[in-house]
Amino acid sequence: MTRILLTGANGQLGYEVARKGREMGLDLAALDRSQLDITDRAAVADVVQQIAPDLIINTAAYTAVDRAETDSQAAFAVNRDGPRNLAEAAQKHGSVLIHFSTDYVFDGSQPHAYVEQDEVGPIGVYGESKEAGEAAIRAVTERHLILRTSWVYGVHGANFVRTMLRLAQERAHIRVVNDQSGCPTYAADLAEVVLRLAERVLNGQLQQDGYGTFHCAGQGQVTWHGFADKIFQLAGERFGKKPELIAIPGSEFPSRARRPANSALDCSKLARVHGLALRQWQEALSDMLDHLDRNA
Ligand SMILES: NC(=O)c1ccc[n+]([C@@H]2O[C@H](COP(=O)([O-])OP(=O)(O)OC[C@H]3O[C@@H](n4cnc5c(N)ncnc54)[C@H](OP(=O)(O)O)[C@@H]3O)[C@@H](O)[C@H]2O)c1
Repeated sequence: MTRILLTGANGQLGYEVARKGREMGLDLAALDRSQLDITDRAAVADVVQQIAPDLIINTAAYTAVDRAETDSQAAFAVNRDGPRNLAEAAQKHGSVLIHFSTDYVFDGSQPHAYVEQDEVGPIGVYGESKEAGEAAIRAVTERHLILRTSWVYGVHGANFVRTMLRLAQERAHIRVVNDQSGCPTYAADLAEVVLRLAERVLNGQLQQDGYGTFHCAGQGQVTWHGFADKIFQLAGERFGKKPELIAIPGSEFPSRARRPANSALDCSKLARVHGLALRQWQEALSDMLDHLDRNA
């Protein structure tokens, strides 16, 4: 019997959970989209019945924030219906479900970091579809952990850090938004926290108050411009190339979706209840760049 079913295994986070889970010797079935499409209710039910996992970790998602604005059907299918399918199968087989949501469930108008009880109010289709996914899970099973994270980057997949490094090779000047702030989160750090929680689930150590919704992001808050500045400061030390950064307001950056001005997450509940926290974002970023450097 396999103890953990991981969905979306080829995404930024799924890749890290699979890699670290194997390193830790966990009994884990890591399925990518071609092996399990979470929008296929019957396929989800079949796989969960066959594998009979104690825990399902869902990292599959529709994450194209701008594309979602004109492709809402697909976004809702993956971000609402997919989690509902997994929650139903988890409930039926007595499995725990760990799922990921986003800072973009908030409207961003609050001047300080968001806590779990703050009112949600997404301002784009992606955030709406993720919020609908949270609600769908809560309606089906109590045995869930919904981890809201933000600004995820890793060595695998498309993300802001890798885009900035690529642009630095192509351009002398880069324009970056300086009126939106959030918490950069290194996928490898997030995976580590998730697997610590997974171990507790498997060992039967999760108390009743261990379930529910938790904010789980890198520590500290920064604007996209500040994030880019740090990337080039650290990368410059390694790669010797630093483009000129030009700070612009979000209104000058052509994008379909509106984004929250402040989507920083307060992660103190995760620390209080589970004793878990991610590192300062700058430290994690430095590690990620080291990793890229070693594998360049
Ligand atoms: N990225 C961020 O900045 C960010 C911020 C906040 C929250 N989050 C949340 O964190 C979680 C992990 O995000 P991530 O950055 O790892 O996303 P990602 O890199 O975009 O990975 C998502 C994975 O889901 C797969 N997928 C899409 N539709 C699927 C389906 N119907 N069935 C099965 N798999 C499917 C994708 O496959 P394909 O590659 O084939 O499309 C991809 O491998 C998600 O819940 C996301 O909403 C991410």
